[in-house]
Amino acid sequence: MRRAIYPGSFDPVTNGHLDIIQRGCKLFDEIVVAVLVNPEKTAFFSIEERCEILSEVLKTIDRRDCRVTVESFEGLMVQYAAKKAANAIVRGIRAISDYEYELQMALMNRRLEPGLETVFMMPAEEYSYVSSRLVKEVFHLGASIRDLVPPLVEERMKRRT
Ligand code: PNS
Repeated sequence: MRRAIYPGSFDPVTNGHLDIIQRGCKLFDEIVVAVLVNPEKTAFFSIEERCEILSEVLKTIDRRDCRVTVESFEGLMVQYAAKKAANAIVRGIRAISDYEYELQMALMNRRLEPGLETVFMMPAEEYSYVSSRLVKEVFHLGASIRDLVPPLVEERMKRRT
């Protein structure tokens, strides 16, 4: 039984995140999509909204035989991963610019929990520039975010404005 944690802010979930989850489904029997509760970050969607949206959109992707669940977590990610008896952490890497930060986190997490492996996955090229931050920025400035996020995310963001 191979269980992975896919941690992140998911504010909002993008098609890039879904692409990574779909790829992760080829490797793992179970993926726990773990939404970080971070009171310091000003968020567009609340934790509850993010979890609810994720649960909905995950029903629409090809998960193969992989069980994909959504939870929120607080505190150290490695502690949460240990509690979930996870074998691995999945993180998406889009470009070299992501690598430095991701490498630092992976090595710190390895120091904290040597038995837990970080698996980096590359999204499809068409999502290599898509980030939650840019999606929010272009949305706020009136541009279309179609094809960058699932239709439900666009709908929920529009409802907000
Ligand atoms: O989607 P993000 O914001 O890039 O995800 C970052 C995340 C949630 C993976 C990272 O901030 C995290 O794991 N936070 C939990 C606190 C923690 O464990 N910090 C030490 C990381 S080395």
